[in-house]
Amino acid sequence: MTIETRQDIVQLQIIGKIVKETLQLMMKAAKPGMTTGELDVIGKNNLDKYGAKSAPKTSYRFPGYTCISVNEDIAHGIPGPYIIQDGDMINIDVSAELNGYFADTGGSFVVGAATPQQKKVMKATREALDAAISVATAGASLNLIGKAIEKVARKYDLKIILDLGSHGVGRALHEEPGFIAPYFDKSDRRILHDGQVITIEPFLSTQCSHVDEKPDGWTLSTKKGNVAAQYEHSMIITKNRPIILT
Ligand code: CO
Ligand code: CO
Repeated sequence: MTIETRQDIVQLQIIGKIVKETLQLMMKAAKPGMTTGELDVIGKNNLDKYGAKSAPKTSYRFPGYTCISVNEDIAHGIPGPYIIQDGDMINIDVSAELNGYFADTGGSFVVGAATPQQKKVMKATREALDAAISVATAGASLNLIGKAIEKVARKYDLKIILDLGSHGVGRALHEEPGFIAPYFDKSDRRILHDGQVITIEPFLSTQCSHVDEKPDGWTLSTKKGNVAAQYEHSMIITKNRPIILT
C-alpha cells in the first residue's frame, strides 16, 4: 500500500508495535525443553490481547499463529511438538492484522550459547538488513535493496537465500511490490515511492542459496548443518530514512 492519510500511518504503527512486541516476547520466552507449539501459544496470546489476528493463519490457513523455524529449517516452520534444544538457532516470524492493516517482522536467535559461526551469520544478516534500509528511499531503484544485501553477504563470505524476497505489505500480508530480490537484479526497473509500505527481510546462510519445501507443505528447509538467519522489518518509504514500523 501507499500511505494516503495520517490514519494509515497511525494504524500501521499500532500493528507494527504489536508484532514487534510479540516477537520480542517469544524470543525471551524460548527455553530448552519447551515445544515450539508452546512458544506459538505465547505469541497467540499476545496478539489476542490486542485483538490482532495472525496474518499467515487468516491469509493462507497456515497451521499456527506464528512461523517458527529451527536450525536448517529457515522459514514457514510449523509450531508443534518439537522440543527446543540448547544451541538451536530459531527463527520466529510474526505477522498480523488489526483494523485492516498488516505488519510483518521476524528475527533469528540462538537458545543458550551461540557458536562463532551462528554469531557471524546473525551479525551479517542484521548488517544486511541495516544496509538495505539505508538505501531504501523514495525515488531510488528498488534493486538497490538487493545490491546492498549482496555487498554485505560478500563481505562475510556468506550465501544469500535467493528464493526468498522482501515484499509490499500494509493492506495485506503480501502485496505489490511483489518479490523484492535479495540480490542485485539489474533488469528490475521498479522505483521506490514516497509512502510505499514494504518489508525488507534478507536471509544469509553458510552453505545454501535455495530452499526446499518439506513434505508438510509449508516448512522451507536447507541442508542439514546449514546455518541461516533472517531479520525482517516493515517500513514506510520516505524521502529520507524509512519509518520503521517494527
Ligand atoms: Co515475515
Ligand atoms: Co515478510
